[in-house]
Amino acid sequence: MGIQNRVALITGSASGIGKQTARRMAENGARVVINDVVADKVKATVEEFKKEGLNAIGVVADISSKSAVDAMVQETVETFGGLDILVNNAGMERAGALRKLTEQDFDITISVNLKGAFLCSQVAHNAMVGQKHGRIINIASRAWLGGPGQAPYSSAKAGIVGLTRVLALELAKMGITANCIAPGLIHTPLWEELPEKNRNLLLSKQPTGRLGSTDDIADAVMFLADDDNSYITGQVLYVCGGRSLFSG
Ligand SMILES: NC(=O)c1ccc[n+]([C@@H]2O[C@H](COP(=O)([O-])OP(=O)(O)OC[C@H]3O[C@@H](n4cnc5c(N)ncnc54)[C@H](O)[C@@H]3O)[C@@H](O)[C@H]2O)c1
Repeated sequence: MGIQNRVALITGSASGIGKQTARRMAENGARVVINDVVADKVKATVEEFKKEGLNAIGVVADISSKSAVDAMVQETVETFGGLDILVNNAGMERAGALRKLTEQDFDITISVNLKGAFLCSQVAHNAMVGQKHGRIINIASRAWLGGPGQAPYSSAKAGIVGLTRVLALELAKMGITANCIAPGLIHTPLWEELPEKNRNLLLSKQPTGRLGSTDDIADAVMFLADDDNSYITGQVLYVCGGRSLFSG
């Protein structure tokens, strides 16, 4: 049945994976909310979508702030009359060896990636309960399995897996599913900024020998968001070209 006429809020969707996911959802008939903490990027993305004939509004909000999340969900419901799909995508990373990381590195990474997903799920599910339908899709990372230099990020993403399992259990009887997607290496602007040496090392560990695309993640989100997919909940779907099959 797809996602026709569904209302989808995608956090951190003025860039990368979130932006392509929002575009694909809108192309498939959803009404989408573009959220980001960077106002200029939200404005530019909404203008771009409107030129493409897509139904989108923009809401600037820092997802680690409860009051900002309350206001964002309220604006979504007031504009579109409800909320059906939440994609907790906004994220960031502070990487480094354990001895070099600061308390602030840890706090901000947990605050944006994990607390942000918690707050958005908590507020958004209230809008879904009455309609007995909802989809919460959390963008974790293959890195939740653990990666050297990734203490804050791996911790946050592992927290998201735990959060997803709790959401699935608590919300199942309300017709709301909650699942995680764990992307591996995905081709986003950040990749281009990495030194060639680092890129080659990362690629050498890819069973597929190549990066994934933002469409690979958008495809997985679309699958989990589909009205027909009501019996998959609490799961982690790896979209990482097989990289989750071994550690190191
Ligand atoms: N790119 C990859 O290879 C990869 C791999 C695994 C997981 N992921 C995850 O996928 C998600 C998207 O990553 P991406 O590569 O598209 O990154 P990106 O940097 O292109 O997009 C993330 C967006 O989130 C926004 N954001 C950051 N903090 C925010 C906040 N507090 N409130 C609202 N918005 C905020 C940023 O401004 C940015 O526009 C992240 O959760 C990331 O951890 C990415």
